[in-house]
Amino acid sequence: MKRCVAMGSKRLLSAGRLACLTALLLSCAAPVVLSAGGRPEPRDPRLEIFSWWTAGGEAEGLAAMFQLYNAKFPTVQIINATVAGGAGSNAKAVLDTRMRGGNPPDSFQVHAGHELIDSWVRAGKMEPITFVFRDNGWLTAFPKDLIEIISYRGEIYSVPVNIHRSNVLWYNKKIFADAGILPPKSFDQLVRDCEALANKGTTPLALGDNGIWASLHLMENVLLATMGPARYKGLWTGATPWNGGELRTALARFATLLRYANTDHATLSWDAAAQYVIDGKAAMTVMGDWAEGYFKARGLTPNKEFGWVPFPGTGGSFMMLSDSFGLPRGAPDRDAAVKWLTMAASREGQDAFNPKKGSIPSRIDGDRSLYDVYLQSAMDSFRTDTIVPSVTHGAAAAEGWVNEIQDVIATFVCDQDVEKAAAALIEAAKKYVR
Ligand code: GAL
Repeated sequence: MKRCVAMGSKRLLSAGRLACLTALLLSCAAPVVLSAGGRPEPRDPRLEIFSWWTAGGEAEGLAAMFQLYNAKFPTVQIINATVAGGAGSNAKAVLDTRMRGGNPPDSFQVHAGHELIDSWVRAGKMEPITFVFRDNGWLTAFPKDLIEIISYRGEIYSVPVNIHRSNVLWYNKKIFADAGILPPKSFDQLVRDCEALANKGTTPLALGDNGIWASLHLMENVLLATMGPARYKGLWTGATPWNGGELRTALARFATLLRYANTDHATLSWDAAAQYVIDGKAAMTVMGDWAEGYFKARGLTPNKEFGWVPFPGTGGSFMMLSDSFGLPRGAPDRDAAVKWLTMAASREGQDAFNPKKGSIPSRIDGDRSLYDVYLQSAMDSFRTDTIVPSVTHGAAAAEGWVNEIQDVIATFVCDQDVEKAAAALIEAAKKYVR
């Protein structure tokens, strides 16, 4: 595992990446055209949308929203400001620099919940956008709980464009059929299946954690499977103590799974890992349902080439996260941004985006007939399952805490020292649990 030797933490940027980000930052500075008299020339409105959606599925979903926007507002020039890197692993640092430097995009992707509120709203960097919901009669078009997590002191601060599920295990149906195994329902069964596949010479688990978040993603699934929804949720509110035995059990289980992962995982992205499953180079991958968007963008059909189950041991729980867009204070093209937010909150906008993205609409009135068999199953689960927040994707905890947890996981992936990792996680929790 190259990372373990070369660098302790995944969050260190390579020189190449840094140069890339710097170039990107420079190119993001909005050009100002001055007239002879020194006054800015009037120009057509622009709309700069900042996100990390560059992989298959997510890029198509974003393009579908742009297309809709363009059809409604043809004179607005859309600037697609993406910074590649799953889960915003690079984008968040670029956004931070831009926001601090007073150079915000018109709107940016941000996870609903703690990431939005703790990083940006409390800091006074966002405008309230309750009016988008109120003026269009949409205050009741979204689940009440969701409105709550995008609100602060009585105002709404972002438009949730989707609901993603993070606790999904995706598998290659042919590999499973050839090996004579069924999709695992319990953690122990998963380990037995991994062992059987490994004995046949098949890599059981595809992992792409060149962004360490993908390992944390796997770990949050193991935590949920080990603790159950109530105790898992309690970790983030202080109701569940961090020093119990379950944390150690979960870490040990996570280490077990790492043994069954592809040895080049530190060099792969999440979508490259999903591609391993498509190509039959690995049997399964544990990823949020943006992987479904990826599989479809690669021409696959749900339930034909690939199948899915809730991560073994988490059936009945829906680990959720939501991508949202907000209105930064000082957005250069505020009117264009408000139109964007209105489109993103509309039924039409959500139904254009989500079938491609591999997510379900956050509105309660999405047109079910537009969604495939996986997404319809996700809609059903979202209605009936226990909802728990994803920590990897900003729903459960403040970004500072998530970053500390990621650092612990980065080290753990290398040394697999359960006691050391547990102690570090307990320490981190002391700082953040209120
Ligand atoms: C998540 C995000 C998803 C998807 C994924 C991979 O954090 O919520 O929409 O983009 O990262 O990039």
